Amino acid sequence: MITIVGSVNMDLVVQTADFPKQGETTMGELFTTVPGGKGANQAVAAARLGGDVHIVANVGDDLFGKELVENLRANSVNSEGVSVSEGAASGIANILLSDGDNRIIVVPGANYQLTATEIDLMTKKIEKSDLVVLQLEIPIPTIKHTLELCAELDVPVLMNPAPAGGFQKEFLQYVKYLTPNETECEQIFGTDMETALENHPNQLIVTLGSAGARFYDGEKHVIVEGFKTEVVDTTGAGDTFNGALAYALVEGFGLGEAVKFGNAAGSLAVEEFGAQGGMPSREDVERRLGGER
Ligand code: RIB
Repeated sequence: MITIVGSVNMDLVVQTADFPKQGETTMGELFTTVPGGKGANQAVAAARLGGDVHIVANVGDDLFGKELVENLRANSVNSEGVSVSEGAASGIANILLSDGDNRIIVVPGANYQLTATEIDLMTKKIEKSDLVVLQLEIPIPTIKHTLELCAELDVPVLMNPAPAGGFQKEFLQYVKYLTPNETECEQIFGTDMETALENHPNQLIVTLGSAGARFYDGEKHVIVEGFKTEVVDTTGAGDTFNGALAYALVEGFGLGEAVKFGNAAGSLAVEEFGAQGGMPSREDVERRLGGER
């Protein structure tokens, strides 16, 4: 069982030929609202693969909040741990999408009202979990509290330190796996990637976009190559990787195989529009691992 403690957002996506420059107005092509948020995305990714996935999150008592919870349920994510803040707006992400690439502004709204109290109410769930997964789109004190609780209950934690601004060095002692991308890795460790990896064997897994991901196994650097893919939308690719990595680790895969599984899942996710639109089933991932396109 995997418990994800994290954000739930409605993604407000504008597709456009070009990103506007400072002070410029341009005409977009399409506006869509789709479910997102790093926590929800990672939960849906792991659940689509067949995982027993539970989420602890907070939404507002608005229409987006209702839709977001409904979407979690529709994707078989257990949402008993989703609380609702009265009078609060649900989290949103303003996404500009152009040529498969994106620019994102998150307004956390109700995500920032997820407190230690809501986490404590889920202690039994957390205690039963094989893995707890965290990102950094909820309040930092709530993250600290969750880390301390997991340590007390002896439950391993996978942390995807995104956005990296909220990361604190003290988190490292609490996490079994940390999965920054290259930029986040540099922001967090302030050293070159090789040194950071060597200092954190089998703990630090750095994602490299389409090139895959890498870690240091205590003796050598392991580079797990990415899969060839046709990119429609990269939004949620990292979340799919993290959800799939969590799923594979809980299924008992070794770290290298779990990273490869995550890479395959991520490569499928970018082929469809929306953070969750292309998240694959286990069969889809196995087909990709088997070399079929
Ligand atoms: O990682 C992609 C996600 O980041 C989007 O779905 C958006 O909601 C933001 O949280």
